[in-house]
Amino acid sequence: MLNPLTPVHLHWDGDLPKALEYEDIYFSAADPRGEVQTVFIEANELPFRFRNVRRFAIGETGFGTGLNFFLTLDTWRQHAPSGAFLSYVSAEAHPLAPADIHRALRAQDIPETDIAVLLAQYPPPVSGLHRIHFPEDRVVLTLVYGDAAPEFARVRGKVDAWFLDGFAPSRNPALWNIAVFRQMARLSRAGTTLGTFTAAGQVRRDLAEAGFAVKRIPGFRGKRERLVGRFQTAPYPDTAPMDRIAVIGAGIAGLATAVALRERGATVTILDPRGVATRTSGNPAALLSPHLSAGDSLRNALALAGMRATRALLNALQVDGNDGVLRAEGIEHRGITRHAARRLARLSAVDPRLAGNLYQVVNKDPRKPILRYPQGIGVDLGAFCRHLAHGLDVRHRQVFTVDTGERGASLGYADGGQDLFDAVVIATGAGPALYPGQPRPLHVGGQLTRIRTPLRSVGRMALTGRGYCLPEYEGQHWLGATYRHDNADSGVHDPDNVENLRQLHWVDPALEAAEEVAVSGAWYGTRAVFRDRLPAVGEAAPDPAVHAPDGARPTGTPRVFIHIGLGSRGVLYAPLAGQLLADRIFGLPEVLPEPLSELLSPARFRHKEA
Ligand SMILES: Cc1cc2nc3c(=O)[nH]c(=O)nc-3n(C[C@H](O)[C@H](O)[C@H](O)COP(=O)(O)OP(=O)(O)OC[C@H]3O[C@@H](n4cnc5c(N)ncnc54)[C@H](O)[C@@H]3O)c2cc1C
Ligand SMILES: C[S@@+](CC[C@H](N)C(=O)[O-])C[C@H]1O[C@@H](n2cnc3c(N)ncnc32)[C@H](O)[C@@H]1O
Repeated sequence: MLNPLTPVHLHWDGDLPKALEYEDIYFSAADPRGEVQTVFIEANELPFRFRNVRRFAIGETGFGTGLNFFLTLDTWRQHAPSGAFLSYVSAEAHPLAPADIHRALRAQDIPETDIAVLLAQYPPPVSGLHRIHFPEDRVVLTLVYGDAAPEFARVRGKVDAWFLDGFAPSRNPALWNIAVFRQMARLSRAGTTLGTFTAAGQVRRDLAEAGFAVKRIPGFRGKRERLVGRFQTAPYPDTAPMDRIAVIGAGIAGLATAVALRERGATVTILDPRGVATRTSGNPAALLSPHLSAGDSLRNALALAGMRATRALLNALQVDGNDGVLRAEGIEHRGITRHAARRLARLSAVDPRLAGNLYQVVNKDPRKPILRYPQGIGVDLGAFCRHLAHGLDVRHRQVFTVDTGERGASLGYADGGQDLFDAVVIATGAGPALYPGQPRPLHVGGQLTRIRTPLRSVGRMALTGRGYCLPEYEGQHWLGATYRHDNADSGVHDPDNVENLRQLHWVDPALEAAEEVAVSGAWYGTRAVFRDRLPAVGEAAPDPAVHAPDGARPTGTPRVFIHIGLGSRGVLYAPLAGQLLADRIFGLPEVLPEPLSELLSPARFRHKEA
């Protein structure tokens, strides 16, 4: 996870890039657009297949310049019905530098606005899955960075069509072999198609051995032959429809999940007796901050994916400093406590690429290390949630029971009556458990304090160390936060304000005289947190009948999913976890690789106490 990748050396022949290490070109010199159109897009019959889809997924070997992707996006725009969702997954071992991508794509007449969307979210060159969003088109591009075979082995979900691209098989054997094709087979369903420019004998034989029925057809523009193919397997028994989905809870977890489900075409109903963001997600001053460590590459990978997902969601909502959502740009982390100083000092001694370049070292001194998180932000989480809720169907009802049966999941309401849905997502924060086997998080209360005293030492960035402080907004600062393990759900009380002011005196000496500081408000919330500080996201009570061992057929459809236990990191995890659940529910390629989604799985509590 997060291993730095090796770039290739490019040679430019005019605007045509060539990889020196592979002695090969990225696309045909004569008619690149025509070749992509014929060999990948038409070979998979995409213009026709796009016409009637609600969701479609494409896999590619070798993202390269992104030309295949952008021409597919163009085809999608022309043919797919409005509201349809496309997931495009592409492996790449040697990502090109942004300037090279820009040069190659501009020369092929890819619109500047599209290139800009890609480059604004272009991932750091480290292995793993990195998702890029084209929200206006309902398209997500997931770059699978690293060597295709082992990286695809960590991807979960299915694709409908493959673009088998790469340098010439003789020069690029790592991409054209049975190990890659077996992963493609694992990610295919009955009838998944493929197109490729080559008809090399070994490729043909290995594809056949992996389960693809391949056919030779005339090559593009005078080339002799190429292949098209179809994955051969008995179709799965019809899976239950997943159209009407209920989300219980209108905090950040429920809303982010609902938005991801709606993007994928579901009809979503949100249920919450109090409406949007009235419990912990009413938090007026929350940080989007990565939790990094020098030694835990899995958690760093999760932090990178979380930062990217939340920023993409904010970007799609088009929020900025003017609508009250964004309250800080950038976060400075000071090693104030001994524990944090040790952690930051270790991070400042290693290569920041191992944490996806999420931090910059400001001060290396191990006694007072300082890191900066340029992607970090401060938000009014309540305002963020209200933006998310726009256009969603939120009903003021309390759910009392959740039951599953053959036909779906039924909800019983506290005020009587019930409703049947195809699936249900429980996102109830610190609310009582609703489903057997639902893991129970601990409840930890906490308070934020607002002051009218100007803190001259605080600029546009949020400061964190022991507690945290947001920049001035309308003449005031928010400071946080306390932890009340023994007194959860007890509401605002004055001693917590004093504690917040005292713990933050490192920010500004003005806070030392806590009694003289003008407190202008406070906010209290209850964190729902598991001991490992990770949320529980996935099927509520994994059922062996539903989750057959690898290779065996699943025999049932999971109906109940959970998204709880966000602890102090709801802003970091909720948008990512929402996408993970929505991908899972529809069998689409997932936003997280398997080792990371397993870290979050509720199944981790099955044999031990939360
Ligand atoms: C003091 C403090 C500081 C924090 N600082 C940060 C920070 O800096 N960064 C960060 O990322 N996070 C921070 N957090 C955590 C963050 O606020 C939470 O992780 C997040 O709000 C949790 O969202 P949620 O949707 O899981 O829960 P909630 O927002 O509590 O939403 C759950 C919803 O479910 C509803 N519900 C419950 N039971 C039922 C039912 N039976 N039927 C229908 N609806 C039901 C509730 O009414 C509620 O609206 C902080 C929390 C606190 C308390
Ligand atoms: C011919 S180019 C692909 C062109 C691309 N589809 C486009 O639209 O520009 C082949 C790509 O495969 C990548 N590649 C080569 N070996 C790989 C491997 N083992 N795993 C993943 N990607 C690999 C190369 O870095 C290169 O970007």
